[in-house]
Amino acid sequence: MKSANLVIALTKGRILEETLPLFAAADIVPAEDISKSRKLLFDTNLENVKLMLMRGSDVPTYVEFGSADMGVAGKDLILEHGCEGFYEPLDLRIAKCQLMTAAPVDAQAGSDTLKVATKFTNIAKRYFAEQGKQVELIKLNGALELAPSLGLADSIVDIVDTGKTLKANGLEPNDLIADISSRVIVNKASMKIKNAIIREILSKLSAAVKANS
Ligand code: PRP
Repeated sequence: MKSANLVIALTKGRILEETLPLFAAADIVPAEDISKSRKLLFDTNLENVKLMLMRGSDVPTYVEFGSADMGVAGKDLILEHGCEGFYEPLDLRIAKCQLMTAAPVDAQAGSDTLKVATKFTNIAKRYFAEQGKQVELIKLNGALELAPSLGLADSIVDIVDTGKTLKANGLEPNDLIADISSRVIVNKASMKIKNAIIREILSKLSAAVKANS
């Protein structure tokens, strides 16, 4: 009997460069050069496994609704989306960075409500509520580091990797909200229906992660 098709949604960009070698070590190789193609759906060396390529922020949505059975996305985007509808069985330990609060180097803690700029409004809302801090969140999609110097916000919540972007914009990291890396997520229904092939892929990916660490 031919087994059912399995669709895996991958995050394009920098994460992809670190994802593909792990997938190759797990015997899943795209049939053509993904990074050079404009296509979004790719065959692989395995007849029943397809790869989809998309923005990381869309991966949890595709997996939640079952359009993709599995996905690879940053923990930041998974936390921001919420974890309904899928499991997160494996940490690929790639694209590691930190989600942090950051503010101007000479910032004084004021008593007024803080204005915080971020693209991670759901995470920030939960974080500051847990801290018992009242904040006004300002949603931005990029160039967050400019917001404090332009008076748009007192601080930001953003991804910090080397810290160079903060430094170049007169900011410093303050509190760690979460350690981030790329995770494999699996649609809950797919995990039941396509259990054998998903378990096999997870086991091979897990071995590849161990060998990579
Ligand atoms: C992220 C983040 C910071 C930068 C931090 O942006 O938003 O701007 O990386 O990296 P650093 O600590 O090494 O300087 P990214 O380049 O991923 O683009 P984005 O704005 O699309 O998220």
